[in-house]
Amino acid sequence: MASPGSSPGSTPMMELTGAPNVAHIFVVFGASGDLAKRKIYPCLWLLYRDGLLPPGTKFLGYARSVMTTEDLRARITPFLKVGSGDQEMKENFLKTCTYMPGSYTDGAAFEKLNAEMSRLEDEMAPEQPANRIFYLALPPQIFMAVTANVKKACMSTTGYNRVIVEKPFGMDSSSSAVLSNHLSSLFVEDQIYRIDHYLGKEMVQNLLVLRFANTVFTPAWSRSAIQSVMITFKEPFGLRGRASYFHDVGIIRDVMQNHLLQLLCLIAMEKPASTSPDDIRDEKVKVLKCMSPITPDEVVTGQYVADPNGEGESAVGFREDPGCPPDSKQCTYAAAVGWVRNERWDGVPFILKCGKALDERKAEIRIQFRPVAGDIFGGRCQRNEFVIRVQPKEAVYMKMMVKRPGRDTGMFESEMDLSYHLRYKDLNLPDAYEKLIQDVFLGNQMNFVRSDELAEAWRVFTPLLHHIEGHQIEPIKYQFGVRGLPEADTLAAKVGHHYSGTYSWSTPHL
Ligand code: NDP
Ligand code: BG6
Repeated sequence: MASPGSSPGSTPMMELTGAPNVAHIFVVFGASGDLAKRKIYPCLWLLYRDGLLPPGTKFLGYARSVMTTEDLRARITPFLKVGSGDQEMKENFLKTCTYMPGSYTDGAAFEKLNAEMSRLEDEMAPEQPANRIFYLALPPQIFMAVTANVKKACMSTTGYNRVIVEKPFGMDSSSSAVLSNHLSSLFVEDQIYRIDHYLGKEMVQNLLVLRFANTVFTPAWSRSAIQSVMITFKEPFGLRGRASYFHDVGIIRDVMQNHLLQLLCLIAMEKPASTSPDDIRDEKVKVLKCMSPITPDEVVTGQYVADPNGEGESAVGFREDPGCPPDSKQCTYAAAVGWVRNERWDGVPFILKCGKALDERKAEIRIQFRPVAGDIFGGRCQRNEFVIRVQPKEAVYMKMMVKRPGRDTGMFESEMDLSYHLRYKDLNLPDAYEKLIQDVFLGNQMNFVRSDELAEAWRVFTPLLHHIEGHQIEPIKYQFGVRGLPEADTLAAKVGHHYSGTYSWSTPHL
């Protein structure tokens, strides 16, 4: 398995392919569901196609829906990306995908599941060790029953057992603690893989390298040079059939408390002692421990309403969505300011913004530097910004002042630009889930959330969530398709972030 010191992103292929006599089973709980169909099977297929899984691995789908293996194959096939030469391989992949229906709560059903796994393992590698991975693509209310049944009836006694869980990991500190205690009563931390799929994204994984493999950033990466850090997530669509989930959860739990907070940790953390998963996670936990809970006076919440001129989805407001109560006060937009009270970051606001039904799809980190001291250019210098665009069109750019080329003695804002699609030909970045599932096979927990990290993340957000829900705070209404909330811009300005509106960018001459 992955050596703890292996470089981030490296793929120790020998470790995957070097154990031909070990059987591997990947069980997908909730195989009839949306996540399984849209993400998990397509990623398993790509890993299979590219030879990145142990040879002979079998994929066993399990869910309550009464359907056959053929039904499952027909269900997932349209979601498998198949190139011209891949047809035969796809057929082989599908042959390794089987399905069995069963209850999530009945112990006897899990004994049958165990018998089926043993049968498949005997087919693969008779009398040899067997490794089992269980993916819980399930609603949280059945996590506990399923994991308890897995522990009781389905553990391999000859190889490893790994359990992958999807968020939400609870609704607040106490419910998350109940879930964590439950899981830790069944499994050791090394067996639990809590997915935050943002940690599998290329530019997120790049943060470690950008920060700690470039001396140029070392002296600048602190309160002495940085004015503010803004982390933004935007989506141009609404609920897409997830109204009832979203009404319960809201954007703060859905995106801010996990994806955005993870980005904050990677930006703020100190250099880890090594690239081993625990050294990195130790540093992330230290960042969270230095954060005080987010306070309601530094938060703006919003809820989208229909665009009166909109068509299709944009003509439907959050409260009008079938599945959402018409008086829901749940927020679909939030901006909040976090403070990391340590020597490096004291006084630097970390502005987190996220929202659905906005003008564009975007996730980015914007590090804004302090104004030039002792300015000799008559106030014409704009602040430098270092932007890491996570998606779409991955890019890293530094906005900076330069002299206008030629005889002109003036200056203007330009950029040092590393746009991946321009710089790297035929770029084909793996999906985040693909990378993370591969990491589970490799036993590399670097990009999974540890229980202490999770507890700290909830500590930062629980008082705010209780305040919003306890006081039934009415979110500010915003129209489907807007850029963001002006109140959020005001909040960002209040804590020191400056938007000049003077920068313009055009695609470089090629
Ligand atoms: P800008 O200075 O134009 O904008 C910075 C951010 O400020 C925006 O993303 C927006 O964030 C926010 N903003 C916009 N209007 C207001 C407002 N009225 N008040 C407060 N905040 C506001 O710089 P960018 O870095 O965004 O660059 C502009 C464009 O150039 C972008 O589309 C960028 O992708 C592109 N570009 C592309 C590069 C590349 O492909 N490599 C390199 C450089 C630039 P939000 O909407 O999130 O609130
Ligand atoms: C999920 C959220 O975790 O992330 C969704 O539950 C959101 O609401 C999604 O749409 C965004 O992921 P990505 O990878 O498309 O940015």
